[in-house]
Amino acid sequence: MFITFEGPDGSGKTTQIRILASTLIEAGFSVVVTREPGGTAIGDQIRNVLHDTANTAMSSVAEVLLYSASRAQLVEEIIRPALADGRIVLCDRYADSTMAYQGFGRGLDRGMLADLTAYATGGLKPDLTIYLDLDVSDGLARRRNEGEEMNRLDLEAVHFHERVRGGYRLLAAADPGRWITVDADRPAGEVATEIRDIVLHRLSVSR
Ligand code: TMP
Repeated sequence: MFITFEGPDGSGKTTQIRILASTLIEAGFSVVVTREPGGTAIGDQIRNVLHDTANTAMSSVAEVLLYSASRAQLVEEIIRPALADGRIVLCDRYADSTMAYQGFGRGLDRGMLADLTAYATGGLKPDLTIYLDLDVSDGLARRRNEGEEMNRLDLEAVHFHERVRGGYRLLAAADPGRWITVDADRPAGEVATEIRDIVLHRLSVSR
């Protein structure tokens, strides 16, 4: 099963993936945790270029091609082999981030992005996408308070992040069979319990 986590920066995706991975491992599942951009040696080099706050001159087209290149490498090198071995893959961001940030945030053509993503991934879609929904200003404040390093996208204006959030909500509403929206404005333990119940239920149904 291929499970992706989406949401604004600061919504707690990384913490939730860590908790879910240990819950699933304890329950006897074989789990692979990965992230985008990055997750491979080549992808991590691309990630550095994408996140470098000095790269203010990067065009939106160059940006989306770099995210897609990182994704193509991750799918081929890590995700497809793990799924073929019957493992559960938990991925911190995937193609829906491109639709939300480059499509709704930057305003790139969403039909073109869908085609590009299908090419980069060979059409591989998640079985389940957990969307951690959080107010934009709360997310940015959390990142600052936790002393997390700001990336190039964090430096975008608040209305960019509002468009991203609006995009995520539309994507989630359009495909309720794949997307689960979780309110991230709660203590991490509460959010983790909700996610655990959803995922264990899905796994029992798919067995
Ligand atoms: P993160 O690893 O801290 O979540 O940061 C990844 C950043 O890159 C985040 O601001 C969202 C952005 N991003 C895109 O704009 N498009 C994409 O396709 C992906 C995967 C991430």
